[in-house]
Amino acid sequence: MKRMIFNIRPDLKGKVELRDILLKKFNCSQCGEETIDGWEFDLDGTRQLITAATVCNRCGTKELSSLVTDELIQKRVDSLLSNWYFLPDKETAGFRNFQPVNELIKEAKQKAMNYVGAFSQDDLKEKNLLIMGNPGTGKTHLSKAIARTLKARGFKVGFIPAVELFNKIKGTFDSGSSERLYEDMKKLDLLIIDDMGVETTKLNDVSWTVRTWTEIIDARLGLANIWTTNLDDTHLGEVVGQRAFSRMYEDTRFIDLFTDDYRKTKTIK
Ligand SMILES: Nc1ncnc2c1ncn2[C@@H]1O[C@H](COP(=O)(O)OP(=O)(O)O)[C@@H](O)[C@H]1O
Ligand SMILES: [Mg+2]
Ligand SMILES: [Zn+2]
Repeated sequence: MKRMIFNIRPDLKGKVELRDILLKKFNCSQCGEETIDGWEFDLDGTRQLITAATVCNRCGTKELSSLVTDELIQKRVDSLLSNWYFLPDKETAGFRNFQPVNELIKEAKQKAMNYVGAFSQDDLKEKNLLIMGNPGTGKTHLSKAIARTLKARGFKVGFIPAVELFNKIKGTFDSGSSERLYEDMKKLDLLIIDDMGVETTKLNDVSWTVRTWTEIIDARLGLANIWTTNLDDTHLGEVVGQRAFSRMYEDTRFIDLFTDDYRKTKTIK
């Protein structure tokens, strides 16, 4: 043990004699216990104290395992997001490039920004946001802006077009892994489902669609959701079914975008 000092400090070879070295125990810098091996000796007339480590094995292992745990948690979050966040990094739709071209759109933008503000401060009185309106009025743009802003602030945000969500669910039919999918869905701080109702044009089995929407809405009950749709109340109710529909209207803020297509407004000007 004594001669291990020369492994750590080869420069001491020939300068210090083994018999002049004392073995000592030092305090771990983390737990404070006398658990660290060290050496004490004179060198050129001054007392030298050298320790083999700054933290003991127990504290070192603990630190390492917490690093590993953090990394595992981060990996799980990353894989969760990669499954649910259907927005590329190069996506540019944001609040800054959303023009308030008329009063209704200006109000919509303000409401979307208020939602983000309340969400960030954990001060959401109504957790859900339902954005309804004509095609081309900026529903997707606004929901992307919300998604990008909150994701950048560190929230676990899912953004998924309804069609993709239904593909995902259909993809679990063979493996029977839909339970896992619903479990993952519950782990998101916010789930944005874009363009509800479009999925039904591809499916004829209305009872399956209604049952699936009921499961999706139920899975996210009490959590924050944003839904966008081109449908009006009546048609949305038919697509998702009465139970999901009434849940979607509880605990919800509304944005009305029944106005002109943004691109048409631009060409008129
Ligand atoms: N107020 C706006 N300011 C800037 N761009 C807009 C605005 N509204 C819509 N757009 C753009 O017009 C296109 C259609 O908008 P989108 O959000 O897809 O409409 P919706 O989802 O309501 O059908 C997108 O490229 C979007 O970025
Ligand atoms: Mg859209
Ligand atoms: Zn220790």
